[in-house]
Amino acid sequence: MNLKGRDLVSIRDLTREEIFYILEKAEEMIPFAKGEKKTKALEGKILATLFFEPSTRTKLSFETAMHRLGGNVIGFSEPAMTSIKKGETLADTIRMVDSYSDIIVIRHSLEGAARLAAEFAESPVINAGDGAGRHPTQCLLDLFTILREKGRIEGLKIALVGDLKYGRTVHSLAYALALLGAELIFISPETLKMPKEIVRDCQELGAEPKSFTNLERAIKDVDVIYVTRIQKERFPDPTEYNRVVGSYRIDIDLLKHAKEDLVVMHPLPRVNEIDPEVDKTKHALYFKQAFYGVPVRMALLSLLLGADVK
Ligand code: CP
Repeated sequence: MNLKGRDLVSIRDLTREEIFYILEKAEEMIPFAKGEKKTKALEGKILATLFFEPSTRTKLSFETAMHRLGGNVIGFSEPAMTSIKKGETLADTIRMVDSYSDIIVIRHSLEGAARLAAEFAESPVINAGDGAGRHPTQCLLDLFTILREKGRIEGLKIALVGDLKYGRTVHSLAYALALLGAELIFISPETLKMPKEIVRDCQELGAEPKSFTNLERAIKDVDVIYVTRIQKERFPDPTEYNRVVGSYRIDIDLLKHAKEDLVVMHPLPRVNEIDPEVDKTKHALYFKQAFYGVPVRMALLSLLLGADVK
């Protein structure tokens, strides 16, 4: 399978076979991601990271991935310090960066920004999150986490909880889980339900997602609970945010209603959705999940750049 030169703007850009291929490669990257093995597979290559929105995990794990592969990184996370501040368009910025680098990672507040970047760049473009739209590399690492910890995805009962309207990670993940045959449960406040078009896409893939507002009742027999932050920055009206903030909180008492081997995931950052007491339990997987961003992004960078990692 050859992914050299491809863009990754949406998880829909990948087939089921391509997703599993990337996840297999990610497994091979683990000793490199931990620094136990060394490689110069991407020596001489330059990754450009263009972060128009804040990030900790995505930006740093992409940078770590590139460094672990022997490549170099340029980029910005303060667009106010670039010529965008002087009125330069995104298209012109991308044209410039394309001539300085071999692969581009972009995070932007506007849905569609990564697709536009991919149209203007010759090099591969990876979407690191576009507004409330998509977050395909988070999706890949979420799938990798589930596969690694549960041994399969097909047939698992997976609950996506929280802000399903504005949360881009769950938009990508719902589609991918439906594609890979998981049983989907959506738990959210009435006003933050999964967008209809994503529910429809999941149904077209053969899934029959069930929607609930009550977490306690729905959690009983799930295998994975994927919790999300209420995306305060995407609410047009702060009153509406105040109405739903704190709707769900995973704590030790709630976990008493859950299966013994339930795993709790979260793309992070968390605010108050998961009690820190849960961190010490065998259910907590979110920090390991964040680490898996490194091998998954290493796999992706090496595949899109056509490098063989040995
Ligand atoms: N999960 C995630 O995208 O985290 P960051 O916003 O810190 O990159």
